[in-house]
Amino acid sequence: MPKTLTPSEAQKASFSARIVAWQTLKGRHGLPWQNTRDPYRVWLSEIMLQQTQVSTVLDYFPRFLARFPSVSSLAAASQEEVLGLWSGLGYYSRARHLHACAQAIVDLHGGQFPRTAEVLQTLPGIGRSTAAAIASFCFDERVSILDGNVKRVLTRFLGFSNDLAQLANERMLWQHAAALLPPPERAHDMPRHTQALMDLGATVCKIRRPLCEACPLQTSCHGFQSGAPEQWPVRTKKRMRKAESWWLLWLENERGEVWLETRPQKGIWAGMSALPVRPSREALLEMLAPQAQEVHAQNLTPSPNSPFFKIDERPAFKHVLTHRDLYLHPVKIQLNAAEAVLIQSGLNALSPQGQWVGATRWEALGLPTPVRQLLSQHP
Ligand code: ADE
Repeated sequence: MPKTLTPSEAQKASFSARIVAWQTLKGRHGLPWQNTRDPYRVWLSEIMLQQTQVSTVLDYFPRFLARFPSVSSLAAASQEEVLGLWSGLGYYSRARHLHACAQAIVDLHGGQFPRTAEVLQTLPGIGRSTAAAIASFCFDERVSILDGNVKRVLTRFLGFSNDLAQLANERMLWQHAAALLPPPERAHDMPRHTQALMDLGATVCKIRRPLCEACPLQTSCHGFQSGAPEQWPVRTKKRMRKAESWWLLWLENERGEVWLETRPQKGIWAGMSALPVRPSREALLEMLAPQAQEVHAQNLTPSPNSPFFKIDERPAFKHVLTHRDLYLHPVKIQLNAAEAVLIQSGLNALSPQGQWVGATRWEALGLPTPVRQLLSQHP
C-alpha cells in the first residue's frame, strides 16, 4: 500500500473547478429534490437517500411530500402515520428521527431550518455530512460532505491510505475535504460542488471498476496513477455481525384480524407494530392460554367440541439489518371463534401492548418489511 500523500497545491487548487465544470456537463440535474433551495425538501431527500437507492426514493419522496408538504405538517403528525408512510424504506430509526427533527425545528427554531451546518447538526438524525449537504445546497455554506461515496472519491484522489476505522484518520480526511472546497469568492459554487462529489461517487468513482476515463480528476488522481484505484479506501475494521433467531407469533382470528404488538421505543423495529417476537418456540407458545397449550402439548386429537389450534410453522428466513442477521421463524395459528376466546386472557397477560388489527389497518401501519411481506402472503 502506498504511503499517504498530502495533496499538492496545484491538485487542491483545481479540484473544485474541475468537478463543478464536470457536474454542469455530466452530472445529474433532473432529480425531484434538485433545482430547489428549500431546506425541507433537501433535508427529506438526504435522509431518504442515506441508506436507500435513488430509484426507490423517487417513489417515496413525492408521496411523502404530498402528505406532509411542510415541516410543520410533519411535526403535527402522529408517529404511527409517519412510520406508515415510511413503510418499505427500512432503517426506521430514520423515520423516528425525521419526526423528532421536524418537531425540534418547530419547537426550537420557530419552524425555520437553521442556516448553518453547525446548528443543523444539533438536530435529531442530522449528522455532520447531512448537515453539510443541506447548508451547502440551500445556503451556499462552504462546508464539505463526507459520506461513504465521497470518502472513496477523496481517498483515491489523494492516495489517502490511512485506516479510516480510526477516528483520527477520518478527522484528517474531513480536513482534506475542507481544503478542497471552492475559495470564498466562489461560495456560489457550493451546491454544484456538493452535487458533483455525490455524482462522481455514484456514477464514476464506483466501488469496483471505476470509470476513470470519464473522470474530470483523472490527470491528478493518485488512485488512477497507481493503476489500482480500487485499493482505496483503506478500512481494517470489519463490522461485527451478530445473528439472532426470532420467533414470530402470527395469530389470525376468525375475522381475519392479526394480533400485533407495539414494539418498545428502543432497539430493533422500535415503536413499530409487529407480530409478537419471542426468542424461542417455547417462549412463543407460552403466550397462548395455559389450557390451550396443554391441549397442544398432549397432542390431543381435536374434536368439533374441543378447541385445539393447529400450529403451522412456516420456513424460517433471513432478514439482514445493519449490524445483525435476523433468522425469522413465523408460526401461524388460525384461530376459530372458540379458540380466540380461550386464549384471549393469556394473550392480554403476555402481550399487553397487543391488539387485533384488520388488514385494512395493518396495511397503513409502519410494519417492518418482513412482517408486512409475511402478512401479505395468503393464506
Ligand atoms: N445521495 C445522497 N444525496 C443525494 C442527492 N442529493 N442526489 C443524488 N443522490 C444522493
